[in-house]
Amino acid sequence: MASKVKCIGVLTSGGDAPGMNAAIRAVVREALANGVQVKGIRRGYAGLLQEEIVDMDAHSVSDIISRGGTVLQTARCLEFIDPEYQKKGADICRKHGIDAMVVIGGDGSYMGARALSRNGINTIGVPGTIDLDISSTEYTIGFDTAVNTAMEAIDKIRDTSTSHERCSIVEVMGRGAGYIALWCGIANGAEDVLLPEMYDYDEQKLVNHIIESRKKGKQHHLIINAEGIGHSTSMAKRIEAATGIETRATILGHMQRGGSPTAKDRVYASTMGALAVDLLCQGETNRVIGYAHGEFIHTEIEEALEMKKEMDPYQIKICKNLANM
Ligand code: ADP
Ligand code: F6P
Repeated sequence: MASKVKCIGVLTSGGDAPGMNAAIRAVVREALANGVQVKGIRRGYAGLLQEEIVDMDAHSVSDIISRGGTVLQTARCLEFIDPEYQKKGADICRKHGIDAMVVIGGDGSYMGARALSRNGINTIGVPGTIDLDISSTEYTIGFDTAVNTAMEAIDKIRDTSTSHERCSIVEVMGRGAGYIALWCGIANGAEDVLLPEMYDYDEQKLVNHIIESRKKGKQHHLIINAEGIGHSTSMAKRIEAATGIETRATILGHMQRGGSPTAKDRVYASTMGALAVDLLCQGETNRVIGYAHGEFIHTEIEEALEMKKEMDPYQIKICKNLANM
C-alpha cells in the first residue's frame, strides 16, 4: 500500500550530539526510498517558527555521516513551550506541505514533538543527547562518542596526575544525570566518582579516602565529578587544603559534545532515523524511538515522558570496588 505521507520534515533540537548527522541522513534517504519528499528545518523549533525550511535531497546529506554536530543546526526555543506558538509551528508545517515530522533531541524536544502531534502533524521523536538521560531508552545518540571522548581526555590527565602525584578532579557533562561520570569512572578506573543521583556532599569522606589511598601507595587520585554536582575548582582548593596533596580541577566542557561519531553512534542513529520514517509511513504519530534489551523499540510520548530511569546499582558498586586496592 502506498504511503499517504507526502512530505516529512526533520529538525534537531536541544544540545547537539555526535551522530545527529547520521540520523538526519537516514531520515532523508529512507524517506526518499519510500517515495516521500523531505524538508529540513534549521535551528530546531526556533527555525520552524521563523520558517527556516529547506528542501533536502539525497545529495544534501552526502558526506555528513562522519561529522559531529548537526548540519541542520540546533537551538533552544523557549517560545515553543507556549501552546499558541506550538499551533503556529504546526500551521507553518502545513503551509510548507509538511505532513509529518521527525524531531531529534532529548526529553524537552519530545514535549515539542508531542505538541506538534496534538496539533495534527504526525511526529516521531528520536533520542539525541550525550547525557543518556531519556528514560524510555537504554541508548541515546551521542553518548557513546561523548563518553569515549571524555575517557581519552581523562587518560591523559591521569598520566600527568601520576607523574606529579596529584589528586585530579575531572568534571564531565551530563546536566542532572551522572551517566557520563559513571562510565568514565569505570573506564578510567577513577578512585572516586561523584554522581548527582546519589552524592551525599560528605567531603570529609572524600578527604579521608584520598589520604588512605595515598598511604596505600596510590600515586594519583582521580575523582570524576558530574556536572550536576559541579564546583570542581573550589572543591579542588578545599581538598588540597585538607589533604596537603596538590589538587587540580579540569572541566572538560563542550569538547565532549563534538567530534566524529563512533561506529555505534553512526549505526544506531542511522537505524533510529530510518525507523522513525518507516513508522510515519505506517501512519504512526506521537511516539519516540528507543533501544532496550537488544532491540529498537518505540513508545508513546506520554508514556516515555512519565518513565523513570535508575542507574544500575551493580555498575555503581563495581565502579567503587574495582578502583580500590
Ligand atoms: P533536550 O531536548 O535535549 O531535553 P531542552 O530541554 O533544552 O533539550 O529542550 C529543547 C527544546 O525543546 C526547548 O528549547 C524547547 O524549544 C522545546 N521544549 C522544551 N520543553 C518544552 C515543552 N514543555 N513544550 C514544548 N516544547 C518544549
Ligand atoms: O544536554 C547536553 C548538554 O551538553 C549537557 O550535558 C549540558 O548540561 C548542557 O547540554 C550544556 O548546554 P550549553 O551548550 O547550552 O552550555
